[in-house]
Amino acid sequence: MEYPWSESAPKSDAVDFRPNPQALRHLWAERRTSTLNIDQSGVWRFRDLFPIVADEKIVTLREGNTPLYEMPKCAARIGLNWLFAKHQGMNPTGSFKDTGMTAALSVAASRGYDWVACASTGNTSAAMAAYAARAGLKAMVLIPEGKIAWGKLSQSMDYGAVTVQLRTDFDGCVRILTEVVQRAPIYLLNSVNPYRLEGQKTPAFEILEQLDWQVPDNIIVPGGNLANSSALGKGFAELKHLGFIPRVPRISVIQAEGANPLYRSMQSSGGASLEPVTAETRASAIRIGNPASWKKAVKILLQTGGWVEQVNEREIALAKAEIGAEGIGCEPASAVTYAGLKKLVADGRIGAEERTVMLLTGHTLKDPEYTINFHRDQLLNEDELRGASAEELAAMKSLQQAPLVLDAEVDTVLRALETMTGQKA
Ligand code: F0G
Repeated sequence: MEYPWSESAPKSDAVDFRPNPQALRHLWAERRTSTLNIDQSGVWRFRDLFPIVADEKIVTLREGNTPLYEMPKCAARIGLNWLFAKHQGMNPTGSFKDTGMTAALSVAASRGYDWVACASTGNTSAAMAAYAARAGLKAMVLIPEGKIAWGKLSQSMDYGAVTVQLRTDFDGCVRILTEVVQRAPIYLLNSVNPYRLEGQKTPAFEILEQLDWQVPDNIIVPGGNLANSSALGKGFAELKHLGFIPRVPRISVIQAEGANPLYRSMQSSGGASLEPVTAETRASAIRIGNPASWKKAVKILLQTGGWVEQVNEREIALAKAEIGAEGIGCEPASAVTYAGLKKLVADGRIGAEERTVMLLTGHTLKDPEYTINFHRDQLLNEDELRGASAEELAAMKSLQQAPLVLDAEVDTVLRALETMTGQKA
């Protein structure tokens, strides 16, 4: 989307619309103390930079305003002095998708649509279902049967959406939906929807605000359908253009090895062309072989000097447990960020003194089955474990906390405690 003040907008002699950074910073901070719903939203607090809908038409669940957590253990483990996680899983439906959905649903409702639809690996559908319900619209979600996490499936039902499980993968769902919306009067809310990107750019604003407008060196995001990287990139670029910040951070994208079309594209053609793959990974949110927004992601990588990396199932599982052990937790697709960051640090692409923010995109409760299987040592198969180094195996073992099943007797519990503490009770 383009505004009169955008870098790409045609130059005009008309009134100078350029927003004033000083005044806006003040206004945005002040809105945090307001009791108005739209001011309390961490998306609409910044509405001056995306005037897409009238204030009274805004559909909000008080999204955004998510924490920026320090990650001292994760930082120390890989030799970084400074590492933060922006936890977008702390949004109302537990994922970063809420920031885009509040924007897109507000527009859909204000234009009088009755039905909205999306294809999803689970989080988009949960967010859309919630915001559609708030707006009084009907929602249809297309999800790949048996391939989305339980938390997400239950959400779209809970929020009253028509939940359609198609016997295909995510890419198949997108194909079907693309035809359906051409023939039926239904508003498409996939991430190609431009209003979603406007909402999804606001975490960039929040990160800067939370860092007192000091620009971090690196932002690390997971890559699936590849909208998030470009939305954040747009947010940072706009603030630079308007004079809020002197430079933009490097934005790097991490993919799962089994769902790595962008990684392959950058390796083979520098991002000139992309060959779709048949995707397979337990990080089901990013099990995507034919990403819609890959060109935009390539542009952001090239513009900001970021990297694309890939990580395997073992690396994802360990990284997720390490983030969990920090008291933070996230869903598997979010953990690719830390797994990828390890590689960027190990080979010197990111230095010890650089300041890095990882985007944690989904809450740990989205996919409890994955977590339980990991801790019971039932997640990874023999093939995946075979390549593991001794340190990796030891790290995994030290983090695994399978539940103890004991008889309901005080002595039995005390004996178990003795074994763990080494002290007699
Ligand atoms: N992390 C999580 C938790 C996600 O749900 C997704 C995408 C991504 C990362 C990747 O973001 O697509 O912008 O590159 N989920 C979509 C969905 C596809 O349908 O919920 P992206």
